[in-house]
Amino acid sequence: MQHQRVLILDFGGQYNQLIARRVRELSVFCDLVPCDMSYEKIVEYNPIGIIFTGGPNSVYEEGSPRIDKRVFELGIPVLGICYGCQLMAYTLGGTVEHAQTSEYGKVEVSYKSSPITVDMPAKAVCWMSHTDRITVLPEGFVGLAKSDNCPYAAFGDKERKLYGVQFHPEVNHTFKGTQILKNFLYEVCGAVGDWTMSNFVANKIDELRARIGDKKVLCAMSGGVDSAVAATLLHRAVGDQLVCVFVDHGLLRKYEADEVMSVFKDGLGMNLIKADDGRIFLEKLKGVTDPETKRKIIGEQFIRSFEKQAKAIGKVDFLVQGTIYPDVIESGKGKSAVIKSHHNVGGLPSVVDFKEIVEPLRDLFKDEVRKVGFELGLPKKVVMRQPFPGPGLAIRIMGEVTEEKLETLRDSDYILREEIAKAGLDGEIWQYFTVITNSKTVGVQGDFRTYENVVAIRAVTSVDAMTADWARIPYDVLETISTRIVNEVKHVNRIVYDITSKPPSTIEWE
Ligand code: XMP
Repeated sequence: MQHQRVLILDFGGQYNQLIARRVRELSVFCDLVPCDMSYEKIVEYNPIGIIFTGGPNSVYEEGSPRIDKRVFELGIPVLGICYGCQLMAYTLGGTVEHAQTSEYGKVEVSYKSSPITVDMPAKAVCWMSHTDRITVLPEGFVGLAKSDNCPYAAFGDKERKLYGVQFHPEVNHTFKGTQILKNFLYEVCGAVGDWTMSNFVANKIDELRARIGDKKVLCAMSGGVDSAVAATLLHRAVGDQLVCVFVDHGLLRKYEADEVMSVFKDGLGMNLIKADDGRIFLEKLKGVTDPETKRKIIGEQFIRSFEKQAKAIGKVDFLVQGTIYPDVIESGKGKSAVIKSHHNVGGLPSVVDFKEIVEPLRDLFKDEVRKVGFELGLPKKVVMRQPFPGPGLAIRIMGEVTEEKLETLRDSDYILREEIAKAGLDGEIWQYFTVITNSKTVGVQGDFRTYENVVAIRAVTSVDAMTADWARIPYDVLETISTRIVNEVKHVNRIVYDITSKPPSTIEWE
């Protein structure tokens, strides 16, 4: 079944993925595509509405991104946001000028009644970030909101269903900003709200069944949310034709490997093979202290371990990849400097004998993947699992990885997780874990001198791991965590709290 679709043209602004997520949250499917999509492709896409995002350019500058004027003549509603609204005004004959004063941050606007301002208050705060402004509207348009510095903070042409907002309705700082997006979708575009995760699951299962038939599918299971949800969808669709391989590198958190087996093999009855290769990984890591070398060794051995299992399984028709929508968007963009060489299952195709790749989650944002996980009945501990790096605990142990340090790390991390959950903070902190710092200090325990490890606590808030802030865990919670770790975990006599943001630090220590 085909659902209604909105097309979002990306002019390079910083909130663009957020616009797409908001539209999806409003139960309307959308795609975020580069702004140079051709007129013919736009027509072929057949959207119920088009959104132009913000962007860093000025419309009157040479070389700034443009839009084919015919897009406004299709009868398809358009909403321009920030640069997008200036582009609309400029293209249709209005005037956009450089303003003397920029508007950044929260600004009060007053709204007039219109299809996109339904249920908006007469005055409210919105989030602005612009220097250029529209001084003359194109013919047929009327002003729908204004601020002190911006005569046309919103405008529109009801007949042609064209609207523009100078502010950012997608960000939380805009009061009832989501209502404006909702109005555009439901009042102007005629959305019916057919993008729900239960529809997605039902349609995806039918689609997978039709595509796969009676063929064989292979999936690398990491314990992470994406591979877990992808595997479960496929299992629902084709049952035992799916074989999953879980490489246990011995660097997972306490009880985690057992949990994967108990949820997916014992609970869901999946055909799940575990490669118990912890010893091999530890052997290869012996004496290695450099973070990048550790990452490379683990990444390579992971592929070898998977390859061994894949060979035993033989030729398969499909290989599952846990690609999600942000990966699809990012893959269209250039590469930046390598800070850390990331390890994930993306490196597998060359070592597996398969015919086609199947990516059941490639249309979904992370929060949608989680909703699908719940829809499929997966337990909360799987669906809400914190992001966890491919190289696992090895990059949370500074210096050489040993069995003894792994045990200290697992036990301290387990206590941290228990206490964070008890304090009800697990929903708001993005990632929280302990680190073995590779320094020892003198302590006194039971009248004896000790000389033991310093364990660090790392806890951050973030929205996408690109930037992060250290979490303000209350002192009394930190105190309980510290007391429990030094009392209950062997070889620790001091706890420190990492209070650096990213940048300049990174989330993981290595
Ligand atoms: P950093 O430490 O670079 O981490 O701030 C950003 C996010 O990525 C996770 N991370 C990884 N994820 N393979 C992964 O799949 C890796 O090799 C890897 N290294 C770091 C990290 O936990 C954080 O969420």
